[in-house]
Amino acid sequence: MLKDKVAVVYGAGGAIGGAVARAFATEGARVFLTGRSLAPVELVAKDIVAAGGSAEAAALDALDERAIDRHLESVIDRAGRVDISFNAIGIPNPKSRVPLVELEAEQFSLPITTYTRSYFLTARLAARRMVANRSGVIMTVTATPSRTGTPFVGGGGPAMAAVEALTRNLSAELAPQGIRVVGLRPQGIPETGRIKESFGLYAEAAGLTSEQFEERLATRTHPRRLSTLADLANMAVVMASDKASGMTGTTVNLSMGSLDD
Ligand SMILES: NC(=O)c1ccc[n+]([C@@H]2O[C@H](COP(=O)([O-])OP(=O)(O)OC[C@H]3O[C@@H](n4cnc5c(N)ncnc54)[C@H](OP(=O)(O)O)[C@@H]3O)[C@@H](O)[C@H]2O)c1
Repeated sequence: MLKDKVAVVYGAGGAIGGAVARAFATEGARVFLTGRSLAPVELVAKDIVAAGGSAEAAALDALDERAIDRHLESVIDRAGRVDISFNAIGIPNPKSRVPLVELEAEQFSLPITTYTRSYFLTARLAARRMVANRSGVIMTVTATPSRTGTPFVGGGGPAMAAVEALTRNLSAELAPQGIRVVGLRPQGIPETGRIKESFGLYAEAAGLTSEQFEERLATRTHPRRLSTLADLANMAVVMASDKASGMTGTTVNLSMGSLDD
């Protein structure tokens, strides 16, 4: 579905970035993988190459405008263009369940400034290259607190809502130039480290085991199960492909019925 597409993935050493990078490569994309630490990104790239795909790894801080720009320039030098920009960076979730009324302003602001800055920079710098071909897809990742009241996520909910607004606004400006902007909003995926840890904390607070907590959450979805990385990565492939030509300015709801649109 992505044969010969050139994709850049930010946060590719993480659970979601790595899964999406592998799925893009399996579908024929040439992937340029980046992350703050090189080692986990190199592991993903090695797996992809071992499976017969095309991947290159680079260390990159996705908050550093000059570094993102330089990296995209090197991608253009090597591959001639950028078709897909997928940002999956994630900063650690708060470890303690601090209510908003107790939260320090800096802690509240951190996810808002981090995610909005990174998504703005990676989208803007990719779009400047994509307009030359009047084609491209910019993708964002958010989480359900963008749309539903969730306790103890600090600035995480407002940050995710801001990224979804940015997704719509970028699309309004870029779609006339052939560039689609699409978000993915997965629910918590238990096989990822960050959700395993968060669910553990929520379970403890509710006096449940992690398994009991996950079972309770699963009952809220229509298929009575929680999401997998494969659910997310498969949707990322479809949305990045030309088959999704009608999708832009929106965020795909991957909550399997637990969150109404
Ligand atoms: N996991 C889920 O179930 C889930 C569900 C809904 C939404 N999400 C959202 O999806 C995103 C990714 O989640 P994940 O589970 O894949 O997280 P993850 O496994 O913690 O991966 C995040 C990756 O982002 C990298 N990173 C952080 N800041 C960076 C920066 N400035 N520049 C470059 N790379 C940076 C991290 O590198 P370092 O380790 O070196 O910092 C890490 O490799 C998050 O925004 C999360 O909120 C996740």
